[in-house]
Amino acid sequence: MKKVITYGTYDLLHQGHINLLRRAKELGDYLIVGVTTDKYDYERGKLNVHNSVIERIKAIEETGLADQIIIEEYVGQKIDDIQKYDVDIFAIGSDWEGEFDYLREYCDVVYIPRTEGVSSTQLREEIMPNIKLGIIGTGSIAKRMAEEAKYVSGVEICAVYNPDINEASLFSQLYNVPNIYDNIEDFAKNINAAYIASPHLTHYGYAKYLLQQGIHVLNELPFTLKESEARELFDIATSNKLVLMDAIKTAYCPAFKHMVSLIKTGLIGEVVDVEAAQSTLEQTPRKIDVNQAGGGMSEDASFSLLPIMMLLGDKYSDIRFVSKMKNGVDIYTYATLVYPKATASFKIGLGIKTEGDLVISGTKGYLYVPAPWWKPSYFEARFEDMSQNKKFFYSYEGEGLRYELQEFVSNIFYNRTHNAQLPHSITIAMARVQEFYRNGNNKVIIG
Ligand code: CTP
Repeated sequence: MKKVITYGTYDLLHQGHINLLRRAKELGDYLIVGVTTDKYDYERGKLNVHNSVIERIKAIEETGLADQIIIEEYVGQKIDDIQKYDVDIFAIGSDWEGEFDYLREYCDVVYIPRTEGVSSTQLREEIMPNIKLGIIGTGSIAKRMAEEAKYVSGVEICAVYNPDINEASLFSQLYNVPNIYDNIEDFAKNINAAYIASPHLTHYGYAKYLLQQGIHVLNELPFTLKESEARELFDIATSNKLVLMDAIKTAYCPAFKHMVSLIKTGLIGEVVDVEAAQSTLEQTPRKIDVNQAGGGMSEDASFSLLPIMMLLGDKYSDIRFVSKMKNGVDIYTYATLVYPKATASFKIGLGIKTEGDLVISGTKGYLYVPAPWWKPSYFEARFEDMSQNKKFFYSYEGEGLRYELQEFVSNIFYNRTHNAQLPHSITIAMARVQEFYRNGNNKVIIG
């Protein structure tokens, strides 16, 4: 019996898939179809798959063309499967021409002509909401977002706003953005979602205005510098049924999400301490400008507070800060938080360099995320008995902004106004910490 194997995501099953399966089946007597898992697709950067793995398997089953369906979970699995199922032919669409020649060592490899004019990507674009995204601000983070948006379907950057129209114009030329504005009212009329990447002190005002106009908002860090402002923005978003999200890229990437779930399921026992550090020597003028709410705390505290609050919550009983200042802004801050049953601390450097790792200590073991922990692709669970240590690997594509944008798009698509990856209460608590610090509370200044 001649066995043929083929693999795919088979999202929104279409005629191209059916033709491919039929031709693959004709190559032998028995067809095995490998369907990728949701996790595997997400990890390899295919972020926008519409159907779940169960739905995709069911759709393949219904074609009646597969004799056996298996799931593909990891890189390198094809070689294992070919050996395990004693496969004679590996077949795949011609869009992969040459890519799988390395399998010739194990079986025949056949590239089947691809059906023209249809693809899952195209179908997804037809059913996805056409999100017309406007970007406020044209600095480095806005540029990174414009690059990353190419990897997310259902969203098109169609407007850019900057009070200085020349800046908006430069940005539009660089990233092919069709409309430029220096007037926020006109900008708002032509979009249904916005990414706010403007100077810190402007976040609240822009977010409030846009939400009032019925526009979904992805708001850069710091979300707001006052607790009441964060609360108010969420109230407006909730009553207008809009998505409002905190743009902490780390919260939405595969490694961080899995790390939180693993800890919540008890991998290292009860969490007793969280220790995070983040530092950079990059002191751009805006980052250290006291009039633009510069300084390490407003730049980066949200990142450190993310694992602390996701794991220990927002009900700390005490918080204290030690800061080294320069021209009115903190270039180094060491902060401690006390919880009823745990402690936490973080170090932020802006012009001071330290190891940027994350250590989460528990009653059974600890979790170590090496620098730069806020862009995680790897972490390790470590135990007293070192033979129990376990390493976890993930992908972290590009600048990581595609993960938050993808979450934003799918929250809009599914009308999810709560943020499953980062509860509103935590974003509000982060703003509370910013406000408390900026008001000089519990703060010691060192020379
Ligand atoms: N395929 C095909 N003709 C098409 C689309 C896909 O022959 N028009 C084949 C692919 O070459 C592959 C299999 O179908 O062998 C599964 O492909 P998959 O990546 O799931 O489908 P695409 O429509 O290409 O998906 P996407 O747009 O997400 O890349």
